[in-house]
Amino acid sequence: MQDPYYQDERTLRNMILLRPIGVADHAWEMHDDISWHFIALNKNEVIGCVVLKPLDLEKKHVQLMQMAVDTTFQKRGIGRMLVEKIQSFVAKNKIKDIVCHSRDYAVPFYQKMGFVIYGDPFVEVGIEHRHMRYITNQQTLVYNT
Ligand SMILES: CC(C)(COP(=O)(O)OP(=O)(O)OC[C@H]1O[C@@H](n2cnc3c(N)ncnc32)[C@H](O)[C@@H]1OP(=O)(O)O)[C@@H](O)C(=O)NCCC(=O)NCCS
Repeated sequence: MQDPYYQDERTLRNMILLRPIGVADHAWEMHDDISWHFIALNKNEVIGCVVLKPLDLEKKHVQLMQMAVDTTFQKRGIGRMLVEKIQSFVAKNKIKDIVCHSRDYAVPFYQKMGFVIYGDPFVEVGIEHRHMRYITNQQTLVYNT
């Protein structure tokens, strides 16, 4: 992980994802080396990040993880921009679906981005989560009979 932005990404995740729920810094980095990393920059500063972890050898199923936007920049479209970037990445790479473990309060955000809930609620890192999924080959058809 040589990219100079990687250290800033780790710091942002500590601040936004881990410390507020009392989890140790850097506690969730075990998949970083096999994941694709996406960041949002403002004046060269990392203000948003998310990773995609491949779930199979062919890399056709992925998990969206570690989504965080700097508090100052939340509700300004940065999260949407990151997820849209991921959606075009998965379309380009013929990835079939994206799953994620959404913290309960973030569910409406992912729903706005086209994700749907499946399965039962569960607890991870001490807080309520939902399984969510985005199917990349969704189609909308309009036709006349
Ligand atoms: C959840 C998070 C990533 C969203 O990023 P963001 O940059 O604030 O989101 P955006 O401004 O791009 O929002 C996109 C849309 O989702 C909506 N939205 C965002 N967060 C929401 C929430 N918690 N509840 C309801 N709607 C939400 C926005 O209003 C916006 O709707 P619109 O397009 O109709 O205007 C960000 O708030 C965050 O980092 N939260 C703390 C860490 C976290 O919970 N990460 C997710 C762990 S699963």
